[in-house]
Amino acid sequence: MKAVVFNGPYTVGVQEVDDPRIESPLDAIVSITTANICGSDLHPYEGRADMPAGSVLGHENMGIVTEVGSAVNRVKVGDRVSVPFNIGCGTCRNCEEGFTSACLTANPEGTPGAGYGYPKMGPYRGGQAEQLRVPWADFNLLLLPRGTDFENDFTMLSDVFPTGYHGTELAHVAPGRSVVIFGAGAVGLMAAHSAAIRGASQVFVVDKEKDRLHLASELGATPIDFSQESVEDVIMDATRGLGADCGIEAVGYQAHDASGEEHPEMVLDELVGVVRATGSIGVIGVYVPEDPASDEAPDGRVQFNWGAAWEKGLTIGTGQCPVKRYNRYLRDLIIEGVATPSMIVSHELPLEEAPTAYEKFDRREEGWTKVLLHPAS
Ligand SMILES: NC(=O)c1ccc[n+]([C@@H]2O[C@H](COP(=O)([O-])OP(=O)(O)OC[C@H]3O[C@@H](n4cnc5c(N)ncnc54)[C@H](O)[C@@H]3O)[C@@H](O)[C@H]2O)c1
Ligand SMILES: [Zn+2]
Ligand SMILES: [Zn+2]
Repeated sequence: MKAVVFNGPYTVGVQEVDDPRIESPLDAIVSITTANICGSDLHPYEGRADMPAGSVLGHENMGIVTEVGSAVNRVKVGDRVSVPFNIGCGTCRNCEEGFTSACLTANPEGTPGAGYGYPKMGPYRGGQAEQLRVPWADFNLLLLPRGTDFENDFTMLSDVFPTGYHGTELAHVAPGRSVVIFGAGAVGLMAAHSAAIRGASQVFVVDKEKDRLHLASELGATPIDFSQESVEDVIMDATRGLGADCGIEAVGYQAHDASGEEHPEMVLDELVGVVRATGSIGVIGVYVPEDPASDEAPDGRVQFNWGAAWEKGLTIGTGQCPVKRYNRYLRDLIIEGVATPSMIVSHELPLEEAPTAYEKFDRREEGWTKVLLHPAS
């Protein structure tokens, strides 16, 4: 089959690889109808997360089940499914408690948490490919209505929509609360969509990319271009000097200033500054314990204003999203017309165009907000 293969930093190719096969009776094979490129894929792409050459990329996958192992009995051949980016075994303590993001058995490298096509998340190939092997298929796969309706909405259920929603959960967004979100990539925009659905009174989205900020305003949020205005002034003016009730970090360890220079502590510091005393912050942007290309935080030690955070009594939640906790409810919001995550899609391309798409998405070129690959087309 054809797959998007990582051959080294800034080098991906569409190449022939072996077809996946059922390796355990609990596996299923999914023919991929849509696989998205994610901001997280850019970490290995840029050499900012150590990925072995030859790995197949892609953790935002959906498609049709074409084969199941002998012990799979809930999921059937022909089912249309969303594949959560986390791989959970379903029976370890963390999976049982709903934290599939920290499965204790799926990652043989020893750290809790496994996923597709991402460094240090286990030996699982990604789904930017014609087919994908899904371990513990009965536990992991979310069933979707058959057919092709809502394809571009449902494809957000594998990662960015649940992850944005998880940000609102960690930040304790509730009816009437004000929310400031840093980052207007797919994840930040999905956090804005989720905050509106949860009844936030005011939603602010901070970035410097105009096309992305425009999408934020289409979602009903107030865009703040940090290269043009002071985030603190805007938020304080709008909240009678108190600060926002809730803050969401959807940028990650490559946070940079208006000139493009990286400061891994920058967004955390700003959040501590603009969230009100006793408020909550959800950090869904990725921070890593090792960054091969960083001078400032090669070992993950990011020095942000912990003293002010403590003095304000802030609650800070972190980590990967446990997708299964939210995906069925978000699927139903899509079906009922309450949520339209497809509004962030900018490009739909065949697999062959993945190398160009990576280049343009990586440069944050105007108009490249979210790329969907359709391997079957
Ligand atoms: N926690 C999880 O489970 C999970 C899941 C998916 C993605 N992520 C992470 O979420 C983050 C966002 O993902 P994405 O796909 O939206 O990425 P993206 O790279 O498309 O978007 C990040 C945005 O942050 C903006 N930005 C950079 N510096 C900024 C600053 N100082 N202030 C405000 N905005 C700034 C960039 O301009 C960009 O638009 C990444 O770190 C990604 O790895 C986490
Ligand atoms: Zn992703
Ligand atoms: Zn588990």
